[in-house]
Amino acid sequence: MEGLKKIVAKEALKFIDDDMVVGLGTGSTTAYFIKYLGKLIMEDELEDVYGVPTSYQARLLALESGVPVVGLDEVDAIDVAVDGADEVDPHLNLIKGRGAALTMEKIIEYRAGTFVVLVDESKLVDYLGQKMPVPIEVIPAVWRAIKEELEVFNATAELRMAAKKDGPVVTDNGNFILDAHFPKIDDPLDLEIELNNIPGVVENGIFADIADIVLVGTKEGVKKLER
Ligand code: 5RP
Repeated sequence: MEGLKKIVAKEALKFIDDDMVVGLGTGSTTAYFIKYLGKLIMEDELEDVYGVPTSYQARLLALESGVPVVGLDEVDAIDVAVDGADEVDPHLNLIKGRGAALTMEKIIEYRAGTFVVLVDESKLVDYLGQKMPVPIEVIPAVWRAIKEELEVFNATAELRMAAKKDGPVVTDNGNFILDAHFPKIDDPLDLEIELNNIPGVVENGIFADIADIVLVGTKEGVKKLER
């Protein structure tokens, strides 16, 4: 599995050129990309490349790896964003947010000239929600109300609990995460919009119609899927 993450991360470097602003995703696959990108910058093989991190994880890793970091409010545009995903359907719609960074990920990836997704073949599904719940970032005061309101969609949800802290996961934005299991998601774009219409929902992990390219790591090499 680590081998597949590394080969897609290496392949993603082909999308990066001098003078680019790059959206830096979150997660274990993108972590390889950030490290490789830093190495090219440190060895002067890439010049004037700046990273816009989607999370504290990406920011810390970029700083440690030698990728100069800038804030989203300091750049005019993002040329390319590179990030992982938890599920990819045949139309290249995604579920993201296992790392609880979905809000900044979507903000940055929506605005990127090209959004490149890095996965291994285990993430390819027939429909979204097949294996993974949809993470929903919510304002803490309304987590219980929203959990109940999700029953309208025949979904069951649980509050995500932290592993090395007592109590719930708190996102980089100070919010909670509900992991929602839907029966079958037939229309990802429609559900993405409907969930964001619930007051108190900050963002949800359905990324419909945003990915441009998906690089899939397989035992036979990297497969490129395009929308
Ligand atoms: C974080 C994410 C990640 O990109 C997604 O969970 C994939 O992570 P990994 O590459 O570790 O499997 O959405 O919020």
